[in-house]
Amino acid sequence: MSELSVNHLLGIKYLNKQDIELIFETADHFKEVINRSIKKVPTLRDITIANIFFENSTRTKLSFELAEKRLSADVVNFSASQSSVKKGETLIDTVNNILSMKVDMVVMRHPNPGAGVFLSKHVDASIINAGDGAHEHPTQALLDSYSIREKLGSVKGKNIVIVGDILHSRVALSNIFALKLQGANVKVCGPKTLMPKHIESLGVQVETNLKKALEWCDVANMLRVQNERMDISYFPTTREYAQQFGVNKSLLESLNKEIVIMHPGPINRGVEITSDVADSNQSIILEQVENGVAIRMAVIYLLASKIK
Ligand code: CP
Repeated sequence: MSELSVNHLLGIKYLNKQDIELIFETADHFKEVINRSIKKVPTLRDITIANIFFENSTRTKLSFELAEKRLSADVVNFSASQSSVKKGETLIDTVNNILSMKVDMVVMRHPNPGAGVFLSKHVDASIINAGDGAHEHPTQALLDSYSIREKLGSVKGKNIVIVGDILHSRVALSNIFALKLQGANVKVCGPKTLMPKHIESLGVQVETNLKKALEWCDVANMLRVQNERMDISYFPTTREYAQQFGVNKSLLESLNKEIVIMHPGPINRGVEITSDVADSNQSIILEQVENGVAIRMAVIYLLASKIK
């Protein structure tokens, strides 16, 4: 197989195992390219991509833009906070206006779950979901799995625990879909109040004791507490959360093995992870960011090759 089964990347739930393998093989090639002295290829000279962000982003926005530029695509950036959305323009009108300027692909981050799916039904362009509310963040999950594969040789059969605010996390859901597709064993760990009902139906186990979860796992993916999505208190205090669900150096040293620490960023240092863990040799946080560019180049390249 040399092409994706989908025309858009709306979520991991729409991909199959072969799609993920193809994205990883393509990313291997682009990772080699971006480590050369000339980091750019002329592959997408005829393609124009709009990055439209209705929510804040550092890593995802910069990583997509860099990936597009490394592929020689023409790039336009749109930030909702500085746009006519502030004057009441709808999502469809906004995107159709952008597309009338002959844009081929849209990378969108939006606070509403399903915004990418909605857009894909109403506009004639390839859509990449760069995070839709608390729903999915497919390129984050792909770069996370790719980083595990790079560090441990494969994802299949590995024990992965996702720790923290599972309820509000698009990273958690996309990671669960991606890891299960590749044959990993997945647990989620966090306060019961931040655990979605029926999460076990996704084929994951719930563990509320962090030490037990860390003793079981090969990799711990630490998630940020998403205060911006909370309208009530889900735990008594941040200090108490950090004591029960934060990873620090002494906790890591009390385990009888060395585990890999991941975090999608942005980090709340001292809450879900202490600085001595985030900056340690066990952490692959910056490798995740580096791999994000290669993964996004692969996704853009594979989707662009399906544009008629
Ligand atoms: N990991 C992630 O999505 O980070 P940003 O919100 O900075 O893009």
